[in-house]
Amino acid sequence: MPSWTLFPHGLCFPLLLISLTWIPSSFGFSLALLMSPASCSGLISVRPRFPQPASLPLLLSVPPHLTGRLEELTVWCRNMAVRAFEGKDHAAAYWQFRVTPQELISKIMSSMDKKTPKQFSLALDVGCGSGQGTKLLAPYFTKVVGTDISPAQLEMASANSNPPNVSYRQCPAEELPFASGEVDLVTAMTAAHWFDRPRFLQEADRVLRPGGCMALLSYTLDMELEYRDISKALTDVCKEFYNALLPFRDPYLGPSSQKLYADMFESCSYPDKEWTDRLQVRRTLPLNGYVCMVETFSSYQKMKQKDPAGAERLSNDISNKLMSIMKVSSPDTEVTMVVNYFYFLAFKPS
Ligand SMILES: C[S@@+](CC[C@H](N)C(=O)[O-])C[C@H]1O[C@@H](n2cnc3c(N)ncnc32)[C@H](O)[C@@H]1O
Repeated sequence: MPSWTLFPHGLCFPLLLISLTWIPSSFGFSLALLMSPASCSGLISVRPRFPQPASLPLLLSVPPHLTGRLEELTVWCRNMAVRAFEGKDHAAAYWQFRVTPQELISKIMSSMDKKTPKQFSLALDVGCGSGQGTKLLAPYFTKVVGTDISPAQLEMASANSNPPNVSYRQCPAEELPFASGEVDLVTAMTAAHWFDRPRFLQEADRVLRPGGCMALLSYTLDMELEYRDISKALTDVCKEFYNALLPFRDPYLGPSSQKLYADMFESCSYPDKEWTDRLQVRRTLPLNGYVCMVETFSSYQKMKQKDPAGAERLSNDISNKLMSIMKVSSPDTEVTMVVNYFYFLAFKPS
């Protein structure tokens, strides 16, 4: 049986691309519906899914009556991102196992201080998830608001203890309920790749005050493990884990998240901007904490949906392999996880 999935592709001109992917067992291709909200006319693009991104669209006309369903389909697309983070267990795992990037917050704040040293009023953490990054901003701002589209994530964020100046709101990243020019910092931590990126950048620009900072950060999915003198062997097993999850990577993200951020950086028109390719963050945690952290990845969650037993087997196999190399019997044995972050800062012209 062919299966149908709906996913949005980012598009940097005023067309909305909605793609219906048909995956027959032998050969995959995608049927994409390109629609222009302005003209209410449309195009259909049929393109092979592999190899990416060299596929050539074949464009055909769409009857105008089909484009009337544009709004409905847009909402459907947005819900795809919500669903990826909607499970209550997933939100709880986020809270428990995600890395809090204090080192990056320090970098952002020291850059902001150099530009305009003062107490800042308002920070937005867009796509805040369960809020562990949001809270780190509390000491630097009068008010910090974490926003997310997922009610389950926000419920988790609010349920945990928060500094009094931190609150949460449900809204899409592309429609922030804040006045133009009232925000000092717009950040998104490991989240902006899920957004409608051109619309989010436009919205971030609208809410930022002149001189305000946009800080987008994320990490590559090749976390390493350090343990005594066998770090290389452990990291090789970690690679096996990531490779097994690759088929479950959401097509919206393409092959490289870093490329999506590089594209956003390039498209940002602020002259005062800086890109950092790699900042390593190290955390000591139980081996099991590392496995649980990888289990928060959307690709693992997708595998779990499609094949729960297979996903559990994969985690157990990886955990057992790691323990065997470490010559330990407890998954609570501490290891150091190395996370490779990349980020960019861009300052709105004053
Ligand atoms: C990978 S999680 C990152 C969460 C958190 N910032 C962290 O660092 O752990 C991405 C988050 O972005 C949210 N998200 C995805 N698309 C969104 C959108 N269009 N608008 C707002 N939030 C969105 C998801 O619900 C999810 O909580």
